[in-house]
Amino acid sequence: MEKNIQAIRGMHDVLPSQTRHWQYLEACVREVLGRYGYQEVRMPIVEFTELFKRSIGEVTDIVEKEMYTFEDRNGDRLTLRPEGTAGCVRAVLEHGLLHNQTQRLWYQGPMFRHERPQKGRYRQFQQIGVETFGMAGPDIDAELIFITARLWKALGIDGLELQLNSLGTAEERAAYRQELVAYFGCHHDALDEDSRRRLHSNPLRILDTKNPDMAELVAGAPVLADLLGEGSRRHFEQLQTLLKAAGVRFVFNPRLVRGLDYYSLTVFEWVTDRLGAQGTVCAGGRYDSLVAQLGGRSTPAVGFAMGVERLIALLEADGRLPETARADIYLVQRGEAARREALVLAERVRDALPQLRVLAHCGNGAFKAQFKRADHSGARIALVLGEDELARGEIGIKHLRNKLPQEAVAVDCLVGRLAEIFDKS
Ligand code: HAM
Repeated sequence: MEKNIQAIRGMHDVLPSQTRHWQYLEACVREVLGRYGYQEVRMPIVEFTELFKRSIGEVTDIVEKEMYTFEDRNGDRLTLRPEGTAGCVRAVLEHGLLHNQTQRLWYQGPMFRHERPQKGRYRQFQQIGVETFGMAGPDIDAELIFITARLWKALGIDGLELQLNSLGTAEERAAYRQELVAYFGCHHDALDEDSRRRLHSNPLRILDTKNPDMAELVAGAPVLADLLGEGSRRHFEQLQTLLKAAGVRFVFNPRLVRGLDYYSLTVFEWVTDRLGAQGTVCAGGRYDSLVAQLGGRSTPAVGFAMGVERLIALLEADGRLPETARADIYLVQRGEAARREALVLAERVRDALPQLRVLAHCGNGAFKAQFKRADHSGARIALVLGEDELARGEIGIKHLRNKLPQEAVAVDCLVGRLAEIFDKS
C-alpha cells in the first residue's frame, strides 16, 4: 500500500469544529473595524519576489531565509506572501488609491514563512491586517491601538501587555546603528554566531535575540530613545498622552525593534505570557518611507497585523469561544414515502422561516441513531416523520432541550407551530 499523503509540515487544516471559532473571531474583527470606518481589501497571495525584498528588507530573517520563492513557467521570480503590508502598499499604489485621499484598510488571509514550526508558529498562518495611509499621526497611531484594545474587550481577552517603542527617523536609526556596531564590536567575543552575522548587516536585530547568554550584554546596549530628535520625541510623547487619556495601559520597551525593516517612529506589540515562546498576538507600527520606497509619492502610513492562530489559542485556553449549534431543527424520517415527503417539507420550512437552520436526515437509519445525530447537531427540536405520522397527515415535534412532551401537528400547521416555538425563545 502506498503511504498516505499528509499536510506539509507547519501547515494545518482548520476543521469544522474550529472554523466556527475562526468565523466568530472574524465576525468580531469585521464589526469593530466597521465601526471605525475601515474597508476590506483583498490582495493576491503571490507577488513578485522583488516586492518583498524592497519592502521587508534584504537582510531580514524573512527575506534571507523564510520566503517560499519559486520561478513560474514564464521564468518570473514569485513569492508566497510572508506578510500583507507590502502587497497592500503595492495595491494602493497600483490603483491610485493614494491620490489626495487617506485610506483606512484591512485584509485577512494566509501568509507563508519557512520558519521552524512550533506551538504558535506555523509555515502557513493567518493574519488579519490593518493599514492606514496619508495620516502622519500620532492620532492615527493611537486610533489603531484603540481598535486593538476594543477588540480584546469584545472578544473577552484580557491580560495582554501593550509594548511600545519609537524607532525614530531613518537618520536617527543610522546614528543609532553606528553606536550599536561600536558597542557590540567592543564585545565581539561575547556575541553568538547569529549576532556576529548581524553585527554589520542588521545590528538592531541583535537587541531582539532570544539567547539568554546575551541578555546582560543587550541590557547594557545604548538605547535609541536617547538619540531621538525633537520631532520623533514629540510624536512618541503625544501618542503616549493619547493612550493615557483613553486609559490604554502600555509599557515602554526600548528593545522592541521588529523583524521587518520598513518601520520608523512608532512600533508596538501586544504580548502574552500564556502562549509559550510565541507570545506576540498582534504587532505593527509606522512605515512612513515604504510608499516612496516602492515608487509612490512620499506618504505616511501605519498599520498592524494579528496572528489568528495565536488569538484562537488564547480564546480556547480561556474558554471564551461560544458553543454554537449547527442547526435549529433536525428532521428525522423513516420509510420510503416519509423520506420523500420529509425533503419536500424541509424545503417548505426553509422557504417560510429563513431564519431557521434545518438539517434533514438523509438515507436510512434507525430512529435511535437519527435522534443521536439530532442531539449532536445542537438542534432544539426534532421533526419526526414516520409511516404512521404520514398516514395521519401529521408530523411529530420532539423537544430536545427541555422536558416538554412530544406533540403531533397537522403537516399544514407545521410552519405556524414552528414560528410559535422559535418566536418564544
Ligand atoms: P509580524 O510581526 O511579522 O508583522 O507579524 C504579525 C503577527 O503575525 C505576529 O505578531 C504573529 O501574531 C503573527 N505571526 C507571524 N509569524 C507567524 C507564524 N510563523 N505563525 C503564526 N503566527 C505568526 C507583520 O507581518 C507586519 N506586516 C505587521 C504590520 C502591518 N505592520 C504594519 N502594518
